[in-house]
Amino acid sequence: MSTTLKQKPVTVAIIGAGHRSVGYARYALEHPERMKVVAVAEPDQTRRRRVAEEHRIAPQMQFRSYEQMLGGDKIADAIINGTMDRLHFRSTMPFIEAGYDVLLEKPISPLEQEVRELIVAAGRHKRLVMICHVLRYAPFYSKVKELVTGGKIGQIIAMHTTENVSYHHMTTAFVRGRWNNRQTSAPMLLAKCCHDMDIIAWMMSGVPAVRVASFGMLTQFKPENAPVGSALRCLDGCQIESTCPYSARSMYITKGLWGPYAWESIEHLGENPTIEQKMQSLRTDNPYGRCVWHCDNNVVDHQTVSIQFANGVTASHDMLCATSRPCRKIHIIGSLGEIEGDLEAGEIFLRHPSSKPNPDPNRMEDVYTEQKLTIESHADGHGGGDSRLIDDFVSAIGGGGSSARTRIEDSLTGHLIAFAADTAMIENRVVEIR
Ligand SMILES: NC(=O)c1ccc[n+]([C@@H]2O[C@H](COP(=O)([O-])OP(=O)(O)OC[C@H]3O[C@@H](n4cnc5c(N)ncnc54)[C@H](O)[C@@H]3O)[C@@H](O)[C@H]2O)c1
Repeated sequence: MSTTLKQKPVTVAIIGAGHRSVGYARYALEHPERMKVVAVAEPDQTRRRRVAEEHRIAPQMQFRSYEQMLGGDKIADAIINGTMDRLHFRSTMPFIEAGYDVLLEKPISPLEQEVRELIVAAGRHKRLVMICHVLRYAPFYSKVKELVTGGKIGQIIAMHTTENVSYHHMTTAFVRGRWNNRQTSAPMLLAKCCHDMDIIAWMMSGVPAVRVASFGMLTQFKPENAPVGSALRCLDGCQIESTCPYSARSMYITKGLWGPYAWESIEHLGENPTIEQKMQSLRTDNPYGRCVWHCDNNVVDHQTVSIQFANGVTASHDMLCATSRPCRKIHIIGSLGEIEGDLEAGEIFLRHPSSKPNPDPNRMEDVYTEQKLTIESHADGHGGGDSRLIDDFVSAIGGGGSSARTRIEDSLTGHLIAFAADTAMIENRVVEIR
């Protein structure tokens, strides 16, 4: 995977020592010859100290905010920006202007104007700004892209993608959690499916999207749907808690799901809080202890998107939430054949119409040919995309030969589709992308 760097190791400063940045930063511990974390900016003392200790960051290089990190001399080759969605613009622009290359988490920004301004700034200051569209680096999608660009299905005619957001992911992140409110984070499609919009745009290799329609709404997790016997908190008076699939105790303690999010509010207690400490927090002030029908969520739980590209190709995407099985799917129909894949199953099918002279219509193998490709990609986050992305970012900065396939300018189309879909859904009209 890694190539040899000309200059080594690449030095990075972490902005926002949350879940995502800390994950990327660990790359430095596994590959100290390639990357070194030399500074951190993080208001939360527990998080700041943890990263500082893990990477042995000097006291004068530990900052309480990205603002405090600015102003002095350049202290690293690059910034890894893992702040929350609505801080991305403010916390990236000054570093681009100060001459840093940046790895920025998605979405670039919830506001189109800010996305465009960052692209202009990156160009003006000749900086590499790479967006964490990790799926472009997942072996599964890399293979699909390779099949498409290799001409295996001819010209793309139409495309369909699906993202099935599981019931436990949905209720944790988008009902109880930090992405549950479009005013404080981002619209659901942009927050969850900007990856899928980006993959669709990537498959189109630079052809612009021109028109978008979309429908969607919040249906399930609303107070009026709360079952009889439910309460504001799972562990404070709820009579159906023991059988509820969304019970905070069941999801976060019994099944041990989504720990990094569920125990954010008690991180100060150390790495391994006791069951009683967890129960106490769910019972009292932990936002993840709230009943899923009694939260302040306003993001949609299903949305469908139709896209037309400038060359007439059509694409559609379905975001389906609270599914039992989480998975992403892709189906691309070309002039010569089709590709169909399931990311979680790690399976891609390449099919072509059969050219057998006298096919028996009752035998499917006579009607079309099918090649099954199995992709091993569960080694780490996002189908293997997380580790490959940070590795490639380091290569891009350190001169080790990189595909830098998620440059900010290349990430624009997917974001524009998501912005247009949001407007189309809210205003109930077809939106032109200009
Ligand atoms: N690429 C992906 O697939 C993917 C997956 C999940 C989340 N994300 C995105 O990653 C980003 C980070 O998510 P997360 O879960 O790691 O968030 P997080 O809340 O765990 O981390 C953000 C950190 O930023 C810190 N912060 C706040 N103000 C700051 C300031 N002024 N200066 C420096 N730091 C400041 C917060 O204290 C927090 O620790 C979000 O934009 C999210 O949408 C991307």
